[in-house]
Amino acid sequence: MSPSLIDAAGIGKEYCIGSRTIAVLNNVDFSVKKGEFVAVMGPSGSGKSTLLHILGCLDRPSAGTYRFDDRDVLSASDRELSRLRAEYIGFVFQTFNLVSALNIYENVELPFLYSSRRASLAHKRITEAIDQVGLGKRMNHKPAELSGGEMQRVAIARAISIEPKLILADEPTGNLDTGTGAEILELFRRLHQEGVTIVMVTHDRSVADSAQRCVQLVDGKVGSG
Ligand SMILES: Nc1ncnc2c1ncn2[C@@H]1O[C@H](COP(=O)(O)OP(=O)(O)OP(=O)(O)O)[C@@H](O)[C@H]1O
Ligand SMILES: [Mg+2]
Repeated sequence: MSPSLIDAAGIGKEYCIGSRTIAVLNNVDFSVKKGEFVAVMGPSGSGKSTLLHILGCLDRPSAGTYRFDDRDVLSASDRELSRLRAEYIGFVFQTFNLVSALNIYENVELPFLYSSRRASLAHKRITEAIDQVGLGKRMNHKPAELSGGEMQRVAIARAISIEPKLILADEPTGNLDTGTGAEILELFRRLHQEGVTIVMVTHDRSVADSAQRCVQLVDGKVGSG
């Protein structure tokens, strides 16, 4: 059996708004083995993005334990977590999150500005990643010159350029038409076949069907399905 990349147990998350406390996640257990492709489904407001942010070390839970690649990340400092993110985790968002003033190459280069990798290696990885998503001939184009599907390809190139241990995708096809979304899912399936571990949030069952396994989040609790 392959080892776990993600091992989160008893995860709770509460937000305090004024004197009110809102429990968003309640005792969530979530594990992912190396090389798995897992979908997280659930209705709006069920805590999917909150869970993804915790798994990506962008946010800390209020309760529970989290081991990433056999490392206790909750005891790490914010600085250590930034480094862990920059080296091991690629993020893909519904709204692409590209920097409009930068061209494709420069957008994909961004994670390397926070990493200790050598510049020559970075250049090789950036061009390879852009080739991998089929945009090799458009390195100098700015996001405004691209379609939604192409912008999402750039975001995926940025995520895979660092050769991450994990890709976290939050509704990656949410802003795309069905055909373009299918192309993006095909790209994820190819990355999965190449051995990348992927956790993808979606509220769409047909999108979740691209994954190997699906976890349901309902009212901050995990079920299966
Ligand atoms: N920073 C915050 N402060 C207070 N409440 C928050 C915060 N972030 C999220 N929430 C609340 O937590 C709940 C879960 O939000 P979350 O974004 O995780 O849901 P989601 O499942 O991703 O929903 P959607 O499908 O609409 O993206 C919501 O009720 C939201 O209002
Ligand atoms: Mg969300």
